[in-house]
Amino acid sequence: MSDSSRYGEAYDSAVVTVVGLVGSLRATSTTRKAVRYALRGAEDSRAQVRLLDLGTYDLPLLGRERDEPGRSEVERFQAELGSADGYLFGSPELHGSFSGVLKNAIDLADRETFSGKMLGLIGVAGGRLGAGETLSHLRAVARSLRAWVVPTEVSIAEADRAFGADGAPIDHAIGERLVLVGRQVAHFARLHKCGKHLEFLKEMEGAAVEPG
Ligand SMILES: Cc1cc2nc3c(=O)[nH]c(=O)nc-3n(C[C@H](O)[C@H](O)[C@H](O)COP(=O)(O)O)c2cc1C
Repeated sequence: MSDSSRYGEAYDSAVVTVVGLVGSLRATSTTRKAVRYALRGAEDSRAQVRLLDLGTYDLPLLGRERDEPGRSEVERFQAELGSADGYLFGSPELHGSFSGVLKNAIDLADRETFSGKMLGLIGVAGGRLGAGETLSHLRAVARSLRAWVVPTEVSIAEADRAFGADGAPIDHAIGERLVLVGRQVAHFARLHKCGKHLEFLKEMEGAAVEPG
């Protein structure tokens, strides 16, 4: 993005971190491929990026988080979730909503983790209708978390054939959208962090769905 002169020095020098959270534990998860691809967009926008794979934690269900050994795992998860400036939530659509795996992880996070942070949403569905329910349910959760959902969301249909062996989406338009949601999370996080509130609001309102 060539935003340097447009937004000024504070924008250029702000360091932002974007963490991707994958709501599927499957080794061959399409959601993981989608979130990984979207993080490229955030990286293009000079964000420091990290993929947080819930499959690498042995998180307990909420209510058991103070019992060992779950407790240390929850602490590790909270520490690695950290205090990023933006997050990408990716979830499979399961029975018309997002995954319990993702919901449990969100519920185990510190209450303030997502408050005032940027959030990009990605839903992945096996069916032809896509993951619209996942996206709208995650939006409701985001409201409760007091997070800012960026304008672009991504719904991927027919998950089994959505990505090639190289990890890139088969449909070029899906690839562009994934990169865009990643870019928006980084961009809005940077605007928010450096106090460009008017620009932040105007662009959030949709005047510039594609930043830069
Ligand atoms: C329990 C279960 C429920 C599912 N429900 C839906 C659904 O409601 N709509 C849909 O399009 N696909 C549904 N699927 C298919 C998944 O969305 C699809 O397999 C997706 O790729 C899983 O994500 P992952 O590859 O990241 O694990 C369901 C799959 C499972 C296992």
